[in-house]
Amino acid sequence: MICLGIEGTAHSIGVGIITNVKGHCQILANLIKTYQPEKGGIHPREAANHHATFIAPLLSQSVQAAGVDFADVDLISFSQGPGLGPCLRTAVTAARALALSLEKPLIGVNHCVAHLEIGRGTVHGCHDPVLLYVSGANTQVIGFAEGKYRVFGETLDVGIGNCLDKFGRAIGLDFPCGPKIEKLAETGTQYLPLPYSIKGMDLAFSGLLTMAEHYVREGERIQDVCHSLQETTFAMLTEVTERAMAHTEKQEVLLGGGVASNKRLRAMVQTMAQDRGASFFVPSRDVCVDNGAMIAWLGCLMYESGLRMSLEDSLINQRFRTDMVEVTWRD
Ligand code: ATP
Ligand code: FE2
Repeated sequence: MICLGIEGTAHSIGVGIITNVKGHCQILANLIKTYQPEKGGIHPREAANHHATFIAPLLSQSVQAAGVDFADVDLISFSQGPGLGPCLRTAVTAARALALSLEKPLIGVNHCVAHLEIGRGTVHGCHDPVLLYVSGANTQVIGFAEGKYRVFGETLDVGIGNCLDKFGRAIGLDFPCGPKIEKLAETGTQYLPLPYSIKGMDLAFSGLLTMAEHYVREGERIQDVCHSLQETTFAMLTEVTERAMAHTEKQEVLLGGGVASNKRLRAMVQTMAQDRGASFFVPSRDVCVDNGAMIAWLGCLMYESGLRMSLEDSLINQRFRTDMVEVTWRD
């Protein structure tokens, strides 16, 4: 089966085409176009306009890149949520139009679950991981337990990526700020104490963000503040992930989301995994960030397990929770 997936939850619009080869996801095409706000944060309607402009050319480029015809596509899937309303609506509209014109089935998928499934589908040896999903808007620790994907811990305020981007903006860096902060942190030498805020299994970043900005105003070296920001937030993320692994007795940890590109975060999580005798996995960057292939892959798994979605049910859900998904494709 060949599945085409459209991802449009936030600032990027992606089209992926995949096929299922004996349970492994073979990616035939995976194109992404990202909206760059001129300044400041993301404006949902402007991002949606960007997606509406680029979705049609992206679709034709994808089938071309995959070396297939639209007629070869067996299923259309789309990101149903969670995400920004205007962006989700643009993606679902494109998906419905395509499904109707090709007379092919349509299926909506949960964005967060797709991040986990693409890891299982593409990374050799990754079967039942705890996912540390760290992107701009999302920060969640997810694992499969008692028939469902459960969120074991998550941010109570901003996502880790947004936290880094906000701090970066305050010190005059361009979006995305995460990679620039990572570079600056490499030459940080002094650790400046920041609030280490874990509540149960959940995390809060806004207090330490305020404190980090305070350090900058007080004249502390930028490199030291970046270093301290990374050390504190990444230690918090690693700790919650480790507790989820201990609780579920899982032997694998998987990273996902744009912040998973960060080498310091990778090193910390990898060390934690090694100390526990567990395996550590990071998918390649193109499937770590928001992308159409992960939407296509989860759509394919759902469809092949017998799930069907009518046009009437293909409504977006901005607050689509990970544990609302009925998991029919796993034992
Ligand atoms: P979602 O809708 O899933 O929240 P998104 O579109 O906000 O996704 P991604 O594309 O997954 O996010 O990731 C973007 C984020 O990743 C930005 O906040 C960016 O600063 C951060 N990022 C990218 N590279 C790095 C890095 N090397 N270190 C830290 N953060 C990074
Ligand atoms: Fe994402």
